[in-house]
Amino acid sequence: MFKTKISGVGMYVPKDVVTNNDLLKYMDTSDEWIQERTGIRERRYAHRTEETTTTMGVEAAKIAIERAGITPHDIDFIIFATLSPDYYFPGCGVLLQRAMKMKEIGALDVRNQCSGFIYALSVGDQFIKNGMYKNILIVGAEKHSFGLDFSTRGRNISVIFGDGAGAVVLQPSVNDSGILSTHLHSDGENAEILAMYNPGTHANHWKDQKLADFDDAEIAEMFMSHKMIDKAQLFPNMDGPAVFKKAIEKFPEVIMEALTVNNLQTSDLRLLIPHQANLRISQFVQKKLGLSDDQVYNNIQKYGNTTAASIPIALCEAWEQGKIKNGDLICLAAFGSGFTWASALIKW
Ligand code: ACO
Repeated sequence: MFKTKISGVGMYVPKDVVTNNDLLKYMDTSDEWIQERTGIRERRYAHRTEETTTTMGVEAAKIAIERAGITPHDIDFIIFATLSPDYYFPGCGVLLQRAMKMKEIGALDVRNQCSGFIYALSVGDQFIKNGMYKNILIVGAEKHSFGLDFSTRGRNISVIFGDGAGAVVLQPSVNDSGILSTHLHSDGENAEILAMYNPGTHANHWKDQKLADFDDAEIAEMFMSHKMIDKAQLFPNMDGPAVFKKAIEKFPEVIMEALTVNNLQTSDLRLLIPHQANLRISQFVQKKLGLSDDQVYNNIQKYGNTTAASIPIALCEAWEQGKIKNGDLICLAAFGSGFTWASALIKW
């Protein structure tokens, strides 16, 4: 069986830098509160009308494909991870296939939020290992700025998220470098703790608490209603402290799982690239695992939490800064909505 290597990395972030102080125009918050709780100083917001999740993904993909030494025409399969797609359906994968004028290849969309990129990587890894495809494009991209509640009511969520995209190209490895293993987990018990319920087909089925106000009607009218807009039910929801508590348990667990399966230790790690959820979560994980500052890459300070894009953006930046060299052991790890969590161990 082949191993899968990452042969090209790319990233794209919009030009528009939005500082914490810029957010004061919309909500009651402060630079001090945001930096202290999350580490975030600024984030990027996509151009409202000219940039979409897919167009940002395309920009990141162009770079990854060029660095892999191939052309869009050589790509055999697309996997696109996002929670903020251009359309409710179809997914961003086909929009990217169209925009990049690729062949009539398969395009799969992954909906695993913060773990989306690692889930996508794991799926791509299987296709390369079993010889089905030779060049797979994986994209993680988000346009959060379009769907956040920028009033004070939504400030616990809206200050955290930013827009951007990252991409990698997977190919068969010709030596012993490549993805050593991936580890995927889920626990839907607390699915509503970090979720956007509406629009959806749930019909208030899952919880005693009403998650959506529908219009009275004999048929339909249950997907989206004026009441939902009036009651601000079309925004994401998050119980921050509950997410924090679970994240600091599952991040170290899934990182150790990857190391243990491969008979490796934290001291073998050149770099841990955690999903950029919150700087305090990364710092907690670093301390728990006894990693040095050099062994953990963080860039949430500049970009906020870009969900499915955060790992490929961080991976690309770390690679561009020369922090990842051939033979280095790299661990990617994520935790997020679902809850889902995941890790990937890679010999670069
Ligand atoms: N500015 C100022 N005050 C705020 C803001 C804000 N942006 N947001 C919330 N507050 C206030 C609240 O209203 C509350 O005020 P009160 O005490 O008067 O009621 C107070 O700050 C504390 O609110 P909490 O939500 O309890 O704040 P907490 O200290 O838990 O910090 C945070 C919130 C940063 C979200 C934290 O819970 C956290 O880090 N959670 C982890 C979740 C996370 O990182 N999510 C990222 C996305 S999910 C993922 O990627 C895994």
